[in-house]
Amino acid sequence: MKVPLSITNLQPQEIKLVSDSLKTGWLTHGKQNLIFENKFSNYIGVKYSVSMNSCTSALECAVKLLKKKGEIIIPSWTWVSTANAVINAGCKPVFADIELNSRNIDPKEIKKKISKRTVAVIIVHFGGMPCKMDDINKICKKKNITLIEDSAETIGGKYKNKRTGSFGIGCFSFFPTKNITTTEGGMLTTNNPKHFNYVKKLIAHGIQKNVKFPWKREAILPGHNFRMPNHLAALGVSQLRKLDYFNKKRNEIAKSYNKFFNNFPNIIETQSVPKNIKHSYQMYTLRVKKNLRNSFLNFLNKNDIEASVHFFPPLHKQKYLSKFNKNKLKNTEILMNDIITLPMSPHLTERQIKYVKDISLKWLKRSK
Ligand SMILES: Cc1ncc(COP(=O)(O)O)c(C=O)c1O
Repeated sequence: MKVPLSITNLQPQEIKLVSDSLKTGWLTHGKQNLIFENKFSNYIGVKYSVSMNSCTSALECAVKLLKKKGEIIIPSWTWVSTANAVINAGCKPVFADIELNSRNIDPKEIKKKISKRTVAVIIVHFGGMPCKMDDINKICKKKNITLIEDSAETIGGKYKNKRTGSFGIGCFSFFPTKNITTTEGGMLTTNNPKHFNYVKKLIAHGIQKNVKFPWKREAILPGHNFRMPNHLAALGVSQLRKLDYFNKKRNEIAKSYNKFFNNFPNIIETQSVPKNIKHSYQMYTLRVKKNLRNSFLNFLNKNDIEASVHFFPPLHKQKYLSKFNKNKLKNTEILMNDIITLPMSPHLTERQIKYVKDISLKWLKRSK
């Protein structure tokens, strides 16, 4: 039996929604974008959302909003987009270490890495797990630095009843492996009307529209074309309706995996989730002890289970990014050698989940 790492399962009604939207003849940013953005704002609990072509673009817009060149603190434990957005917007990434269990940036590390040149911090809610927002908010307020949330991997997660992406400038991804998908796609969320108006222009060539003279297109800043087309926004509206159901299924699967893997504490460490946190399990990760991660990973892969590693190598170990870091990031370097990502999707079947456990059991018995 094959068990993919992630499964997308667009329903016939959703494919019809996309084709109906294409049939209207309006093929770029349109009415569906406004509907998607309004519904997304309501869901996350923010005033404004801007849909665009990716989370990478949203991150770059978030950094460009600062209109400052300086250092931005980010975890090394993230996808390359987080660092690329910082560099492409003319700033310098400064890497901070994470906590082992949450896999999220350690607030103490943020404090340590703040300098006179710090202009912002980008936190990453890893794999569905919200960061420690009370501590992080306190630091950002005290030091007067902007908070950007890379919430690509957490759509619907909550810290003390507030959704990720509503604490600072939020950046979300709708890539196929994420909590919901628009194929490719992203969203920036904010409560600041100035940010909203600036990003709206930034993603569409930097053009200021003129209501009185609609043919006048004044270019007021060096913009991009980061737009999300109408038909993909239509898909986003449908997916958003299903998000809570998807996340409930993800939580059920995580609970079932945890129950099984907690029987093997000498080899496996499951992630523990504090009571005030709602995890959205975009990924399900475990730590494998005794230097046995690669052995477990190979065994699963050989048996058609598409387990993987997020992230190897972490950013400060990437050749082109290593020049930005001089320090050892202890926990990041532990995690890169012992973490494993198991298949996770609301569309996994009971049989597939049982198969993952059965094959894992074979390996666990052998490796005791
Ligand atoms: C933490 C993180 N940030 C940013 C991104 C980039 O998202 P996108 O593919 O929508 O640009 C991803 C996606 O893999 C991610 O995991």
